[in-house]
Amino acid sequence: MIDARTIAETRRAVADARRSGQTIGFVPTMGALHEGHGRLIGECRSACDFVVVSIFVNPTQFGPNEDFTRYPRTPEEDRRRCLDAGASLIFAPSVETMYPTGAVATTIDVPGLVERLEGASRPGHFRGVATVVMKLFQIVQPDMAHFGEKDYQQLAVIRRMAADLNLPLTIRGVPTHREADGLAMSSRNRYLNTDERQAATVLPRALRNACEAVQRGERSGDRVRQILRETVESEQLAHLDYVDVVADGTVEPVTFLEPGRPAVALIAARIGPARLIDNAPLPTIAEANGCS
Ligand code: PAJ
Repeated sequence: MIDARTIAETRRAVADARRSGQTIGFVPTMGALHEGHGRLIGECRSACDFVVVSIFVNPTQFGPNEDFTRYPRTPEEDRRRCLDAGASLIFAPSVETMYPTGAVATTIDVPGLVERLEGASRPGHFRGVATVVMKLFQIVQPDMAHFGEKDYQQLAVIRRMAADLNLPLTIRGVPTHREADGLAMSSRNRYLNTDERQAATVLPRALRNACEAVQRGERSGDRVRQILRETVESEQLAHLDYVDVVADGTVEPVTFLEPGRPAVALIAARIGPARLIDNAPLPTIAEANGCS
């Protein structure tokens, strides 16, 4: 496994791999890697010969009052996890390498997908994400890039950017990897103390309640939102940011759940010092999928 800090080293190693006939896979991350990231890297390794993992805590996607400075940084553990998961190269640039003039004038905006949900709670967040992912794509030039379904809106934004700008790569979504009690793995889970960690299981519980209600025949989007809201609000340590039910792949709220029109339930809540998000597909009425 190659440890690269510069753009030139990364480009050179990727070019060598490509010259020898290898396909290039890419998994962008902010480090503090957990088993969910490990899955992403593993999936990427099964699909591609040469797997690049970027580790970069991107300042431009954090708001002024967010956790950029205290975001966990665990380089040794990250390196071990990348190695175990089959990465070929870690690209871990400095902020100066990615933003040599301090800021970029050219940015990527994906209107229509960023005004609601995370975009409403975190103004400018998706501009920061889309712009840094585009820069990373230009540096790595992968054939395929893997993103987690856990960040539902992020995946939608990246897919749209790739389609709109004819990026010559395939974007693949990977299902959310969870702890045994259902909590979605997240680098931010390490902010939680024991009580908060226990309280955080209210997110998957709310998604499960919503899923089961739909399985029992509930079709009203508002009623499903109410179930999500009431479940989260039943946990004293949880402070709800938003819940929603949207048409799959979009951020459009669903009024009525209809057969053949897949929908997704979404939650954002603050628990202690951590802001957590989660989502789950809702069963289409016709085929009662299991609720996980
Ligand atoms: P980060 O939060 O480190 O996540 C990196 C990738 O791992 C994202 O695609 C995310 O959706 C995925 N991921 C996180 N938790 C997961 C889980 N429990 N199961 C499956 N996949 C999971 O997302 C970012 O970094 C940044 O915004 C980035 C895209 C790197 C741009 O800076």
